[in-house]
Amino acid sequence: MLRLRSIAEIPSGLPTPVVLVPTMGSLHEGHRALIRRAREIAGEAGSVLVSIFVNPLQFDRPADLEAYPRAVESDLAICEQLGVDTVFFPEPTDFFAADHSIAVSEDLLSKPLCGATRPGHFEGVCTVVLKLFNVLTPTDALFGKKDYQQLAIIRRLVRDLALPVKIHGLETIRESDGLALSSRNLNLTAIQRADAPRLRRALLAARDLRINGEQRSEVYLETARLLLLQNAPEDLKIDYLQLVDRESLQLLANVTGNALLAAALYYDEVRLIDNIEI
Ligand code: PAF
Repeated sequence: MLRLRSIAEIPSGLPTPVVLVPTMGSLHEGHRALIRRAREIAGEAGSVLVSIFVNPLQFDRPADLEAYPRAVESDLAICEQLGVDTVFFPEPTDFFAADHSIAVSEDLLSKPLCGATRPGHFEGVCTVVLKLFNVLTPTDALFGKKDYQQLAIIRRLVRDLALPVKIHGLETIRESDGLALSSRNLNLTAIQRADAPRLRRALLAARDLRINGEQRSEVYLETARLLLLQNAPEDLKIDYLQLVDRESLQLLANVTGNALLAAALYYDEVRLIDNIEI
């Protein structure tokens, strides 16, 4: 396995297809699923690349960046074990010049959901993803559907800037109690961790309204809100709960076509997100 610590070390002409799994490290079962799928797409002859970079540009709060879990040694061991061909894990100072002054902004899909309370977050994501695509020149890249808004925005980035990369979205991987896997789960206390599956349960209960043909968004939102707050611990806060169109991510008054119910919760400082297609 090739270990690249800087942009200058990246070789050109890797065997194609070159399939990239961009990550911020602390690899969990969700990342493993992305890497396994990347191997399938690349085949034996192609290349699987994993990038590990805790991107400072996408953190709006310095404390959140500081608290983000880091585990490079075990990440490298996981990559090795899964047969990854190349891992790119640059130093922040190598990847972005101290006086870097160009960014990629997105002005529509990034407004609702996570974008409403995390100013600059998706600009940071778009900027780092475009740069990763530029330096690693993948033919394909994989992203999880847990970060549904991120996936939609990256598809838009690729469409609007005509980037020659095929984007694959993969289903969310969950713990047996339904909690979506996330590196942030490591920061939950045992009590918060035990309570956290309420997020999935609330979304599932709301989705079930569709079986009886319910169309009013407010009914979905109210059902989910009640379950999110029922007997909730004091440190739980809803950041957002919104029903949007799956592609445009704009708010829906009625559920008629492809809808997405998405939520973000805080347990103290730890932020969890999840979503469900309706
Ligand atoms: O989903 C993530 O881990 C990050 O947002 C990404 C896509 C690697 C960009 O930093």
